[in-house]
Amino acid sequence: MAWKTLDDMDLNGKRVLTRVDINVPMEDGKVTDATRIERIVPTIKDILAKGGSPILLAHFGRPKGKPVPEMSLGQLVPALSEAFGTEVTFIERPSHDEIFALPSDAVVLIENTRFSPMEEANDPQMAGFLSTLGDIYCNDAFSAAHRAHASTEGVARLMPACAGRLMQAELSALESALSKPERPVVAVVGGAKVSTKLELLGNLVEKVDHLVIGGGMANTFLAAQGLPVGKSLCEHDLADTAREIMAKAESAGCDIVLPADLVVAREFKAGAENETVATNACPDDAMILDAGPVAVERISAILDQAKTLIWNGPLGAFEIEPFNAATNAAAAKAAELSKAGQLISVAGGGDTVAALNGANAADDFTYISTAGGAFLEWMEGKTLPGVAALEAD
Ligand code: 3PG
Ligand code: MG
Repeated sequence: MAWKTLDDMDLNGKRVLTRVDINVPMEDGKVTDATRIERIVPTIKDILAKGGSPILLAHFGRPKGKPVPEMSLGQLVPALSEAFGTEVTFIERPSHDEIFALPSDAVVLIENTRFSPMEEANDPQMAGFLSTLGDIYCNDAFSAAHRAHASTEGVARLMPACAGRLMQAELSALESALSKPERPVVAVVGGAKVSTKLELLGNLVEKVDHLVIGGGMANTFLAAQGLPVGKSLCEHDLADTAREIMAKAESAGCDIVLPADLVVAREFKAGAENETVATNACPDDAMILDAGPVAVERISAILDQAKTLIWNGPLGAFEIEPFNAATNAAAAKAAELSKAGQLISVAGGGDTVAALNGANAADDFTYISTAGGAFLEWMEGKTLPGVAALEAD
């Protein structure tokens, strides 16, 4: 790998500026999903075990360059202390005096980096100041690596830098899924709109053997082939683009898999009366809300033959039952094959993880990314600035 890890650094007696992503969902002052906190624990423990003092840098929400009390990281101190099993010292305005006076095994959390406009501007002054607070920089925030900010990119170029354990795990999972995968490789891409995933589809058709398209996006592809989609969510203006993607796939030898049958309903609501129809038979007054059982069988057969799966986005309107059926069934199949050691499965993106959790499949996937936007940009084939800055070291 082109970047260093904690194993390559001498951390003894060192202050380790550690960029983490603890942008976790909260309700009434309580963390409702602590996954991102749990996943940075190995990095914090390793730094402490090697005699270093982790000084955490992180953002929370989008305060747009000014202090917003509801977005203070102070509220995460109890959850972090509990997860790390040690006291966390919170510092609102870091100064050298305060930081240098702390014990050598202190775990420190600095206030929301986005309270300063210099963070998102990647201002060299902020990066420079941050770099004087520590001896080594460790980036453990893969899910924020698509942002070229002072705490994710600028500072990494000013200090000896390395990847944390979660960053390492994310990068190696993504590498095994897309950069150097065992073939055949299947990508499952779903979600509402093609327009948000154009670059992703364009990149994937050149890398994967089968591209399963689901959710509202699939409707745009069906319509582009002249099939009726009734009142379904569909981006008719992207018909040409969809046809271009199909042509590109054909010349790259990528098999695009559209739903072989459809579950349609007249209302978008849980429990809505529904029927299963052939792909060419969506009634004018109905909308497509899920892929049907034949589609699921076809996807399962492809997964049976596959060695690698990368998944982003649900296959249907997974948030309302029973239109989560195709997503659940395909996820269960992927989970079963992964558990049996037959498939390397990697999934990421906010909705995706929620859908896989809903299907009780997430635990058996080989790897579930903590990233939303960064996962998408990585699937688009983009270089993530936070990763590139580590590679340069
Ligand atoms: C996320 O939650 O996806 C990351 O923390 C990045 O947040 P952002 O989209 O506000 O940059
Ligand atoms: Mg985001």
